[in-house]
Amino acid sequence: MIFAGMKKIIITIDGWSSCGKSTLAKQLAKELGYAYVDSGAMYRAITLYFLRNHVNWQDEKQVKTALADITIGFKLNDKTHESEIYLNEENVEYVIRDLVIAEKVSEVAAIKEVRTFAVAQQQKMGELKGIVMDGRDIGTTVFPNAELKFFMTADIAVRVERRYVEMFEKNPNTSIDDVKANLEMRDYIDSNREISPLRKADDAIELDNTSLGIEEQLAMALRIARQKIG
Ligand code: DC
Repeated sequence: MIFAGMKKIIITIDGWSSCGKSTLAKQLAKELGYAYVDSGAMYRAITLYFLRNHVNWQDEKQVKTALADITIGFKLNDKTHESEIYLNEENVEYVIRDLVIAEKVSEVAAIKEVRTFAVAQQQKMGELKGIVMDGRDIGTTVFPNAELKFFMTADIAVRVERRYVEMFEKNPNTSIDDVKANLEMRDYIDSNREISPLRKADDAIELDNTSLGIEEQLAMALRIARQKIG
């Protein structure tokens, strides 16, 4: 139950690709009556814009010009009550999940101007607290002072299987080898880039969900969150 005047905190969830970060983040936000922000969706939306508009992202000038034309927002879907991402007023929640985007997003997310642009908006969204945000650098760079930080991991085989099932539902031509190659490539780029690489914050709680059910994991995270909120 949510009580008026209850302390609001910032909860960050970082980790490798396809660890179930967004599943946990959404559930936690719902249980706590908090806002949920999928920071990865922002990098995906920027990638979509760059691909559609043939932006050469090796060229700093083109990147800056493109970013000046991009507005990103989140709106609640009236039916599902889930937050969906809008790129210049267009709902792109579903198109950004395509493998075409997944293949380029880590490259785009490594660009300094892109990160400065996204991080500034993410920090603004957290000003009022009462937020759960998932990504790669949320506990380290975006909200280094967050009250509660999780770092999620799971075995690569489990992550590939989960992502494959998800992608296969949308596109039966998806190959498991492509999914695996994409996850490994993104993990590598995300954790080796120069700016804000994927790292566990020193004060983050590690959650390995290789053999943990979704409900068990939620119960565990919720217990910890409620202790923090008081
Ligand atoms: O969480 P996701 O798979 O939708 O994220 C897509 C990509 O965006 C991911 O490969 C790395 C990048 N990303 C990032 O660099 N920083 C974040 N806070 C979130 C995502």
